[in-house]
Amino acid sequence: MAAAMRLPLLLCGHCCCVALRILSFKPNCATFSSSFRLRSSPQLGRRCFLGSDLVLRGSRGLSWAAVAKVKAQERRGDLVLGIETSCDDTGAAVVSTDGRILGEALSSQADLLSQWGGVVPNLAQSEHFKAIDRVVAEALANARVHESDLSAVAVTIGPGLSLCLRVGVRKARDIARAHRLPLVPIHHMEAHALVARLTEEAVNFPFVVLLVSGGHNLLLLAQDVGQYLQLGTTVDDAIGEAYDKTARLLGLNLKHGGGPALEEIALEGDPNFLNLSVPMRSQKNCNFSYAGLKNQVRLSIESQNISPDLPISEATSEERQLRADIAASFQRVAVQHLEDRCRRALEWARTIDPSVDCLVVSGGVASNKVVRSKLNNLVEAVGLRLVCPPPRLCTDNGVMVAWAGVEHYKRGIIDPPPPVDEPDDVRLDLRPRWQLGEIYAEGESFACSLKKTGDHPSLTAQVRNYMQGSH
Ligand code: KG4
Ligand code: ZN
Repeated sequence: MAAAMRLPLLLCGHCCCVALRILSFKPNCATFSSSFRLRSSPQLGRRCFLGSDLVLRGSRGLSWAAVAKVKAQERRGDLVLGIETSCDDTGAAVVSTDGRILGEALSSQADLLSQWGGVVPNLAQSEHFKAIDRVVAEALANARVHESDLSAVAVTIGPGLSLCLRVGVRKARDIARAHRLPLVPIHHMEAHALVARLTEEAVNFPFVVLLVSGGHNLLLLAQDVGQYLQLGTTVDDAIGEAYDKTARLLGLNLKHGGGPALEEIALEGDPNFLNLSVPMRSQKNCNFSYAGLKNQVRLSIESQNISPDLPISEATSEERQLRADIAASFQRVAVQHLEDRCRRALEWARTIDPSVDCLVVSGGVASNKVVRSKLNNLVEAVGLRLVCPPPRLCTDNGVMVAWAGVEHYKRGIIDPPPPVDEPDDVRLDLRPRWQLGEIYAEGESFACSLKKTGDHPSLTAQVRNYMQGSH
């Protein structure tokens, strides 16, 4: 009994702030603290805390945390497995706490995407089901480690498609439960933002981050892990969605995604062919809107009698040129809108904190070369640095989740292992809609509002509550 810890059970980690504070953070060294502290979120504790008891034991008859401590001492750098299934990519990776990518694997649903012209949630879920065991096994095999060598399992719990998130979260919980590992719940957009700190030297807080993907357009001031001020977001569509829709209407080959296809054909076109208006120029904020641009381009495509059903590969050379011109015009304006908003966001951010010295751009659209080069010019003109992760880490992948897991793990922002007797049908904590940062309202003396997206408080609010409660 001496080696066993009796701890209250926190059902299915229903929020990431309800956790055992089991790690004490020391730079470069994640050793386990000998003192255990149990706390629950002031806001959410009652909702998540069931009050039943759980005995945690490791395989050597020691407590779970004592086993983890021994494991940590045996190795150079702890290992975190990351699992990503929020949309249409099944990704897994093993990353060490000292920042080495030891192994990764990815299964994409490109064929389904081009067949259906978008993500169909139940089909995407069944692809994740088919792929998840193989992808995780491959990532571990590439890293030459076994599940039992891991120190924690990180998994995207939102935002994303609930059906898809479920597959990754179930897998992560199974591994964590079997090996008594802490779980690290991850916000997908934070993972996109933090991966720059893995791949680039000296991306220190605070920095500005532009996240551009299929479902999100976010401008944030990243102040620390789990601490974001939202400078701007989209009021309707995200840029990736506009790329995808336009690519479909132009009859492009969607096998590798609409964005890459449009970028490629735009190389052959005249960016000034269409006189499209840049969105929201009269609104002096950092928000985005792509629905109007998408519509302008759709009307042009219709007026030119371009049929989306005629693949570009079968178009005459004049038809191909027309499509290239429209693609290039769309891209010019889409990227101009990003430039406008980033310029203002950098001004705002430097007013809030003059030590900001770089703009990180991540998310699928950040792999676009025009986006990179235009934003690079903008950033250099104001004496800052542009940081873009390598293209393969800009789109969805397991590495970014594992690394975000490392960042949280090193700060002790983790959940305990799931109970050994957790039923398969336990209600999982999935957050299809989940705000990352608190909203910055310019002109309101840097006031932050706690507006929410979905039913959950923002990650930032939760982490702050958690940290405050643990001191
Ligand atoms: O981050 P991501 O992989 O998944 C989401 O979380 O949405 O982003 C996917 C989005 C898609 O809309 C895709 O068309 C877009 O990123 N994308 C691109 C490029 N590569 C991916 N958009 C423009 N140019 C690209 N090269
Ligand atoms: Zn993404």
